[in-house]
Amino acid sequence: MSLIHLIAGARPNFMKIAPLYHRLVREDWCEPVLIHTGQHYDPSMSDAFFQDLGLPQPDMHLGIGSGSHAEQTGKVMTAYEKILMDHPPAWTVVVGDVNSTMACTLAAKKLCLPVAHLEAGLRSRDRTMPEEINRLVTDVIADLLWTPSPDADENLLAEGVAPERIVRVGNIMLDSFEMVRDQVEAERVPESLGLSKKGYGLVTLHRPSNVDDAETLAALVESLVVVSTDIPLVFPIHPRTRKSLQAHGLESRLIEAPNIHLSEPMGYIRFMSLVLGSRLVLTDSGGIQEETTYLGIPCLTRRDTTERPITVTEGTNRLVMPNEVESSVRQVLNGDWPTGSRPEFWDGHTADRIAADLAGRV
Ligand code: UD1
Repeated sequence: MSLIHLIAGARPNFMKIAPLYHRLVREDWCEPVLIHTGQHYDPSMSDAFFQDLGLPQPDMHLGIGSGSHAEQTGKVMTAYEKILMDHPPAWTVVVGDVNSTMACTLAAKKLCLPVAHLEAGLRSRDRTMPEEINRLVTDVIADLLWTPSPDADENLLAEGVAPERIVRVGNIMLDSFEMVRDQVEAERVPESLGLSKKGYGLVTLHRPSNVDDAETLAALVESLVVVSTDIPLVFPIHPRTRKSLQAHGLESRLIEAPNIHLSEPMGYIRFMSLVLGSRLVLTDSGGIQEETTYLGIPCLTRRDTTERPITVTEGTNRLVMPNEVESSVRQVLNGDWPTGSRPEFWDGHTADRIAADLAGRV
């Protein structure tokens, strides 16, 4: 039985690992080992996702927690290296672009152990984003690069990656959605907040470039207050954003806005129920750009760049500059927004393609 390490550290990793875990656990040629680095540790950022996605307790938990980038990366590397030396796997599978992704890749490759990167090849071309550094480093040294879309393949080929290292498998996030779609549809979060279907906008913001600087965050808060006079908003707040809102005295402005519903971060099923019922989403997340394209929901991404351009060229996503938030929301409300289509292999069967590929490599 080949050991396959599945690494998850932060919230956006759990919905990428879950379908793969469930798929691999049915195979007789491998044994998936679930490893949680502990980068995210609040119950609402971690445990809720394990429950919603039917994942067992991790086989190993590194308990890393928060810290500076170097601290977090170093701690994950040190802890994961010990595991690798005690139980060397046939493959380490890392997902996405968080610090844990890069750290585990580095630890495994320094021991000359094979690494596969799921969601490889995405590039924002903005090296001030910590995630861009993580993507670049991971893709340079991982052995096998599973990509979600043709733009990712092209990025890797342009960087000189040998074609045989690249396998396009599609978008694993949507496997998670299809896995629990019935539960998402049965969950009535909008109704419980007194909101009608397609009668509200959903907001998520957590990127350092939007939430760390007081002036930038204050301008965004003002835009939300203005927009909420046209359409009610629901805003589950990431811990990083909550801290910054409080530190800069901006939280009360949101609390006092009658049409803005603030909440703690939500689990996967409740959150996706809110996405599904929304008229539009305003976000700086990576995954939500993809989920809204899959579901045909207008997505306004408050960033200057995206590493997921296919959600713009084929989907419902548009990049929105700080001074365009209010006009873009009006555009959606006036019915003036592209309807988009689903990219190839964004079909809920990505885990099957990965399992088939991996089976030929152990
Ligand atoms: C990380 C990822 C980002 C991803 C995001 C999703 C990196 C570089 N960034 O950003 O790509 O989109 O997760 O959430 O890996 N905190 C808590 N509880 C938690 C986790 C974090 O309170 O469970 C607070 C801590 O104060 C921490 C801060 O949030 O310092 C930031 O957490 P961190 O994991 O460093 O980065 P994120 O901003 O969450």
